[in-house]
Amino acid sequence: MNPAEQKRAAAERAVGLVEGGMRLGLGTGSTASLFVEALGRRVASGLAVVAVPTSEATRAQAEALGIPLATLDEQPELDLTVDGADEIDPELNLIKGGGGALLREKLVAAASRKLVVIADATKRVDRLGRFPLPIEIVPFGLETTRRRVAAALDRLAPGGTLALRLGPSGTPFLTDGGHYILDARLSAIPSPAETGRALKAILGVVEHGLFIDLATRALIGAQDGVMDIARRTSPLSGERAS
Ligand code: 5RP
Repeated sequence: MNPAEQKRAAAERAVGLVEGGMRLGLGTGSTASLFVEALGRRVASGLAVVAVPTSEATRAQAEALGIPLATLDEQPELDLTVDGADEIDPELNLIKGGGGALLREKLVAAASRKLVVIADATKRVDRLGRFPLPIEIVPFGLETTRRRVAAALDRLAPGGTLALRLGPSGTPFLTDGGHYILDARLSAIPSPAETGRALKAILGVVEHGLFIDLATRALIGAQDGVMDIARRTSPLSGERAS
């Protein structure tokens, strides 16, 4: 299978995990949209679920397909979230946010008993950091926040660059929450959990794209099928493991 077929195969496999009555989180991006498409077909044939979308784009797609939607305030506890990823390491830690939806994606993932990641095989890495790490920041005080972020990354993942993400018209890309994104090109992140904690502690940073200990399972398309990888349970995260 080519990457596009792998994404579809992973999405189709994930939709098989959905049971009637579930409260779902719907991810964002091209792979997640294939899951939403497949879920829409099941809903059209009578499956009863309620879903919380992680972006306005996913909300519009799900609404058009007739998938019953709720806000995270209406459904603060979810059974299953299915989402894509930009990178997946062997511990199922992730980089997400290539599509700019990392904040809502993380809020929804953290509210879910299970987070199943769907992807094609190009997203598997031995070590996180080749994909630019998105860091969501408040627009006010951009330059001071950028300097603090750069200093933290110089210490934890030296040798990278930091760029303000721009939209198609050349103006700063705005997230659904009205924030900016700094993309950190790092090549490798030696200590993802420590880097995540350091970024989160910086004034002006809203969230970052490192998803540590959140994914419980990954369905990854390969040449000849879908790899099904469960996260190894760690003492700190056992309650979330599938
Ligand atoms: C959006 C995301 C996406 O899940 C990630 O960018 C993967 O996207 P795609 O499935 O299109 O490769 O984190 O914020």
